[in-house]
Amino acid sequence: MATWSAPGKVFLFGEHAVVYGKPGVAMAIRPRVSVTVRKSRNPSHARSPYIEECFRSTGVQGSVYIRSQLPSSSGLGSSAAVTAATLAAISDEFGLGFSRDEIARRAHEIERKVQKGRASPTDTYVTTFGGIVLITGDSKRRLPPQNLNLVIGNTLVSHSTAKMVEHVARGRERTPEIVDPILEAIGAVTMRAVKSLNKPQPLGRCMDINHALLDALGVGHPELSKLVLTARAAGAFGAKITGAGGGGCMVALCPKNAKSRVAGAIDATGARSIITTLDTEGIRRE
Ligand code: MEV
Repeated sequence: MATWSAPGKVFLFGEHAVVYGKPGVAMAIRPRVSVTVRKSRNPSHARSPYIEECFRSTGVQGSVYIRSQLPSSSGLGSSAAVTAATLAAISDEFGLGFSRDEIARRAHEIERKVQKGRASPTDTYVTTFGGIVLITGDSKRRLPPQNLNLVIGNTLVSHSTAKMVEHVARGRERTPEIVDPILEAIGAVTMRAVKSLNKPQPLGRCMDINHALLDALGVGHPELSKLVLTARAAGAFGAKITGAGGGGCMVALCPKNAKSRVAGAIDATGARSIITTLDTEGIRRE
């Protein structure tokens, strides 16, 4: 029997713009997903397509047990975390000796297959390696760890990443002279933020600007706007949509002593808060 866990993720800066080769920053966060795999000729049923594909692609048979506090379909990378932790547990239980690089690569292949082509390698990379990651085109670089006090607000409004990515693409076709400079500006905010990662006030301002630019791209939602304004009013340094938008989650950077106040204010709107911080480990044997 082998149990491995993997963290969730948030986009701190640059979502959507990364699709067009601009820089983005994503970060591994708690909570973690934990997966136990046991050799068995009678595999457990009712498994997700991600789990099925982990077993099919490695050619082994086993039962699997998942525990997760990471909400699914909210843009926090739960499918990538489940896939990476399952592959790590399979490798351990069956002695396959997969390296981290191999787990990240295989997990991305599985996401691409299950999501029929449109899966970004960011989620699988960040959950496998942990840390704060700067994405530029195909390259990924881990940035120095920072103690960022984050509060996530889940609107509980369901959204589709594919649809939001498509929405930006259509806007770009219609009015490239407007949309391209917005994407350019998001890239510039990301690079400014990378220089300010250890300075909460300028970093919060960068989040606010990034949020406004995402709104300008048309990926906002009234519930996201409400939570962003609520977090700022409760004392956050800055707040923005995280991930694809159109629903899903926002994230706020908070002074340490304001985390609970911001989380409480988010919960009072009927949304669900998660107080979180950086995970530096990525996949881990339990
Ligand atoms: C979704 O979490 C982030 C997007 O930038 C899409 C992607 O990077 O593949 C919207």
